[in-house]
Amino acid sequence: MMKKLLIIKLGGAAITDKKSLKTAKTDIIKKIAEQIKILHEQKYKIIIVHGAGSFGHILANEYGFNGEDNLNLNENMGLGVSKIRNSVQKLNQIILDIFDDYNIKSYSIPVSSNILKMGKLDGKLEFFNLFNLALENNLIPITYGDICLNDGIEKFKIISGDYIMEELVKKIDGEKYVIFGSNVDGYYEYNDGEKNIIHKIKFSEIDKIIKNKFDEDYIDVTGGIKGKLRSISNLGKHVNQVDLINLEKDNAILDLIDENIELKTTFTK
Ligand code: IPE
Repeated sequence: MMKKLLIIKLGGAAITDKKSLKTAKTDIIKKIAEQIKILHEQKYKIIIVHGAGSFGHILANEYGFNGEDNLNLNENMGLGVSKIRNSVQKLNQIILDIFDDYNIKSYSIPVSSNILKMGKLDGKLEFFNLFNLALENNLIPITYGDICLNDGIEKFKIISGDYIMEELVKKIDGEKYVIFGSNVDGYYEYNDGEKNIIHKIKFSEIDKIIKNKFDEDYIDVTGGIKGKLRSISNLGKHVNQVDLINLEKDNAILDLIDENIELKTTFTK
């Protein structure tokens, strides 16, 4: 039987300490590496997309890339681009080094080696071929949220891992298993001060949740949970299911695949 393609986002909140500049949670990354190693040996094809966490968002805010149009170019922004790109690359290197310790066959593909067109990854880009070729050769392509040069009014653009997930799911063929990993047990809402994980959400319900639960002016450089819900809603056009799990839990990915996990949110048609 043809094994599925796992496309998994390692959220920045899971793999870094979001409050502390450039701090990776290496223990969590090791836990993830252990599972990736096992799944790859079980012949799953795997693509990894990781977020930036405290290697990206803090600097992005500091240098004025705050999720609004970056039209007011100033000298400082170029410095910001350089620092942010360098910093997210460092996180990627930390992950690659840990994967290396587990003899995982990874192949890093930075999105910022491409020029964006009007803020988007061009569908014809060699970028996507690289993923296909890496997969064909039994490698695990790994990419990440980054800052890119843009052919458009904005000269630079922050690209979130969630958006890259959308593009990869659209462009890479095969039967897919799409997973978002975070540091929470799923999508939750507060009812009477109590945190409730919503176990199942239909893609078609997401718009209503965004409208009802988030303020118009809720902003994170790449949209926070609101942005994530938007991405998942877009993914619903291309896949039947997306799961949101907590990567801080031991064996979360393996348990999800074995259908042996209690706390998660499953988004379906
Ligand atoms: C953000 O990527 C990229 C930068 C801020 C440079 P993500 O939006 O995917 O990162 P996380 O998962 O929220 O940390």
